[in-house]
Amino acid sequence: GSYAYSTISSPLQHLKNITVYGSGLMGAGISQVAAQKGYAVTMVDLDEKVLDRSINIIKASLHRVAKKQFEDNEIKQKELIDFTLSNIKTSTNSSESSKDADMIIEAIIEDIYQKQQLFGSLDEITPTKTIFVTTTSSLPIKEIAKVTKRVDRFAGLHFFNPVPQMKLVEVVRTGEINDETYETLMEFVKNLDKTPVACKDTPGFIVNRLLVPYLLEAIRLVDRGVADPRDVDMAMKSGAGMPMGPFELCDFIGLDTLKSIVDGWRKSGNIDPHIVAPTKMLDDHVKEGKLGRKTREGFFSY
Ligand code: 3HC
Repeated sequence: GSYAYSTISSPLQHLKNITVYGSGLMGAGISQVAAQKGYAVTMVDLDEKVLDRSINIIKASLHRVAKKQFEDNEIKQKELIDFTLSNIKTSTNSSESSKDADMIIEAIIEDIYQKQQLFGSLDEITPTKTIFVTTTSSLPIKEIAKVTKRVDRFAGLHFFNPVPQMKLVEVVRTGEINDETYETLMEFVKNLDKTPVACKDTPGFIVNRLLVPYLLEAIRLVDRGVADPRDVDMAMKSGAGMPMGPFELCDFIGLDTLKSIVDGWRKSGNIDPHIVAPTKMLDDHVKEGKLGRKTREGFFSY
């Protein structure tokens, strides 16, 4: 095949095979952007059906990317799509997919026990050189890493939705990470044409630590009857230049995801209790299964 899109540079020579666990929206997006750059990606999930759905998500997104990159050149568009898809394998067999991995990226459900169990078992079957990465947005990296014997080769990479579009990746360092791992991850992120920022292992890292209190305050403002969600969204888009209003963004992120971040912070006791006080509107929506865009109903209907 053509390697026209492959830009793996020398500091990353040893980083070729990437195994991504969890093929939800995050896992699919990360697999896509890595495969676009020529990494050999294996996407692992428990069930073939879920993997098929992820490949379809990737195909749809790739069409947008290819169209944008090669406006009137259908041949080039097809080349990029074929090149990327040829770099992605799917598998339901964990040990087979991991024994040759240079890096494991975990993007499974936000549950500390499941993440610990996964990394604990991967620690036994992957080579010592393999770097472990979690994409958690709400759990302490240190708590996940401690089940392995490679806390120095363990970090967080926090991507944003939609992964192929958003430029930022937070590179989250624990106190134990070694320089080589940290530098490899910074280079890896740049190699994906994204912007890395370094951040300590703290609740919410940078973006969510600022964004989530803002979203909660928007919900409280509506709860207090100050304005309705549509007007709040209009205000923040037209008055503060946000691409999406806070309610639209809540629905985009997923109200269950947002709630799990807030609940986690509250439990940790590390954040001002006023900031993480429960909001009735959010809790009620989640109870009713109105989780946002993915269920076609959240603060708005889709
Ligand atoms: N794949 C590839 N490209 C995509 C895409 C996808 N899934 N979704 C959107 N895009 C691209 C489009 O191709 C388009 O590119 P262009 O402007 O260069 O031509 C661009 O994004 C804009 O898309 P649209 O015109 O279709 O739609 P919008 O202008 O409404 O933009 C948006 C959509 C990019 C999602 C924009 O509304 C946005 O930036 N919203 C805020 C998103 C955000 O804040 N994300 C972070 C959430 S927090 C998080 O993820 C952390 C977690 O831990 C909670």
